[in-house]
Amino acid sequence: MTWVPASAHGMGVHHFPHDDPLRLTPLLHHVFCVRGHCDSMNSKEHWNQVYEAKAPDDVSWYQARPATSLKFIEATGVGREQGIIDVGGGASLLVDFLLDAGFKRLAVLDISAAALEHAKRRLGARVGEVAWFVADVTEFTPPHRFAVWHDRAVFHLF
Ligand SMILES: C[S@@+](CC[C@H](N)C(=O)[O-])C[C@H]1O[C@@H](n2cnc3c(N)ncnc32)[C@H](O)[C@@H]1O
Repeated sequence: MTWVPASAHGMGVHHFPHDDPLRLTPLLHHVFCVRGHCDSMNSKEHWNQVYEAKAPDDVSWYQARPATSLKFIEATGVGREQGIIDVGGGASLLVDFLLDAGFKRLAVLDISAAALEHAKRRLGARVGEVAWFVADVTEFTPPHRFAVWHDRAVFHLF
């Protein structure tokens, strides 16, 4: 496993070049929640309110092009047919750019259904090319293995 962290907004690209022998979800839960740091910043209600009150480009973390994330994901060498999941992806445009780049097994997970609705509406006809998960990442059981787990401005909340 390779974890490439970046300082701006707290970002990480977790790359599993081969089958992931680790169960990432229990690990996350142990590291972030058992220590008592799961609070309202991680609550569904909080985030739904944010995404219902504001336009996607009206939040401080908005990026018209997530250049650093794209660069880091390409740097992992992940193949176009391998799975990538954007954890806490919200309404980010990362998934649009990854589709444009030819990645075929994309997933976006977020605790806020309102956030994902923004992204789905924006993608229009391409919405079916992405797997969408409304879930708390600390309780998420992946349906299959992903080669890359990406997060930006999410895990630092815990
Ligand atoms: C600051 S935003 C960043 C969104 C996106 N990664 C980006 O770069 O635009 C944090 C995101 O994390 C999501 N989030 C917070 N806690 C979460 C949790 N426990 N599980 C899944 N998503 C969560 C929020 O709904 C929100 O979309």
